[in-house]
Amino acid sequence: MTLNIQFMSLHMPENRNVVLFAFENNMTGYSIRAMNKSVQNALDRAIKVDHFTGKFGQVCKLVSPDENYNYIIIIGLGDQNQFSRSKAKDAGGIATRTLHNKTESFLMMVDWDFTEYTGFFVLGAFLKNYEFKKYCEDKSQKEGLKKLTSIDVMASDFEGAKKQWEGLSAVAEGTYLTRDLVNEPSNHLYPQEFVNRIKKLESLGLTVEILDKDKMKELEFGALLGVAQGSNADPYTVIMQWKGNPDDKEAPLAFLGKGVTFDSGGISLKPANGMEDMKMDMAGAATVIGLMSVLAKRKAKVNVIGIVGLVENMVSGHAQRPGDIVRSASGQTIEVLNTDAEGRLVLADILWYTQDRFKPRFMINLATLTGAMVIALGYEYAGLFSNNDDLAEKLVVTSQICGEKLWRMPMGEPYDKAINSDFADMKNIGGRDGGSITAAQFLKRFVNDTPWAHLDIAGTAYISKPNHCGPKGATAFGVALLNQFVETYFEK
Ligand code: BES
Ligand code: ZN
Ligand code: ZN
Repeated sequence: MTLNIQFMSLHMPENRNVVLFAFENNMTGYSIRAMNKSVQNALDRAIKVDHFTGKFGQVCKLVSPDENYNYIIIIGLGDQNQFSRSKAKDAGGIATRTLHNKTESFLMMVDWDFTEYTGFFVLGAFLKNYEFKKYCEDKSQKEGLKKLTSIDVMASDFEGAKKQWEGLSAVAEGTYLTRDLVNEPSNHLYPQEFVNRIKKLESLGLTVEILDKDKMKELEFGALLGVAQGSNADPYTVIMQWKGNPDDKEAPLAFLGKGVTFDSGGISLKPANGMEDMKMDMAGAATVIGLMSVLAKRKAKVNVIGIVGLVENMVSGHAQRPGDIVRSASGQTIEVLNTDAEGRLVLADILWYTQDRFKPRFMINLATLTGAMVIALGYEYAGLFSNNDDLAEKLVVTSQICGEKLWRMPMGEPYDKAINSDFADMKNIGGRDGGSITAAQFLKRFVNDTPWAHLDIAGTAYISKPNHCGPKGATAFGVALLNQFVETYFEK
């Protein structure tokens, strides 16, 4: 549910639920001065009894000793010198989690000079309130549970915080959009429906262009169409453009996403166990959509193209067979040895098309590309593969600040060799060893020396346990990261 956020200057809190923050071993940091004596005594006692030291993530929660307040909680922020925007975001998420189902509203007091962080406390609190319950009966009223509908923020520089939130609220809404797309089951979100949802973004000032199956045949998208041919659902490629800086003569930036609305594996069928998670195999595309919506909402002064390849990978009498050879838009032929390595086939055609048509400054693609990525990096870091050190460095630095972390992986000739084929220009798999790297090498063959980065988000896009900033399921990893990346380096 989206939240009503209100900023105010420091005064006596009217909200009955108050969230305070404290650094480790610095109990003077939390704000009690606006509250009354009995509350202050109760807090001091709670801190002692609870052994609350302000370690990051520690929560001290009490019910107010008088009627003026209900809950008062203090959240530990850890070492002051190690504090970051990403920690502020997580601390905000902890506030929402702690008061989940208990209040309709709470107030966060950020009363010191950490203006840089105020918006990130709010962002985390907002993101943690996300849920995907559209197919569930709402039992909360029957059970007397309260839904959070608003957050008040009391900050010394509340004007500054409000301004900062203007940009960050776009990130919050873009994140919700991406999560909603990723969580949506595949019987509801198939390529055509995905297109419908993208079209709605025209109202934000984005232009949307659709390439249907016939158009893609004309463009000779043999690799993408081969994946789609087993499904009853028609494939689409969608191109979004945000022209936030019309006077800029430089080439646009390009973001591309894998949008496999369901990946059964095709004839190389996946095992039944866990196959349901493959509704999320369009997370790359959903992240591009979320990002484009953020840029448009905050009217970013930059020109950006977003492209997604939307297909369903299914089994049928029409499905592509192992051993089939397809001709990609680039003219290179591919021997499809495993129909489950379909993401790279989709990306091959849209990467080639993007560099050919738009000559962008760089291309960054996002894809839930390989299970091997999850084996290599788990759920904390996404893999970054690039042919350009400057681009890679900028992405890594941004990832460290915003908390959606990237780890650069190696590439090179010996890995590239693994995908040479005896019967075609290449094959679509390179064996089990270094599976994420050989997948990246495959993509690299379609970028034609354009500066390029590939983010393999297989482990980070969808999680099986809640984290600080959201429930289990879709995370929208990459939306905040790439928005920050564009803002830091490319806006004028
Ligand atoms: N969509 C999967 C990758 C994936 C796995 C994403 C787990 C998220 C979680 C991809 O299309 C795939 O099936 N890749 C194969 C490649 C293999 C056949 C070379 C894989 O990783 O097993
Ligand atoms: Zn697959
Ligand atoms: Zn896939």
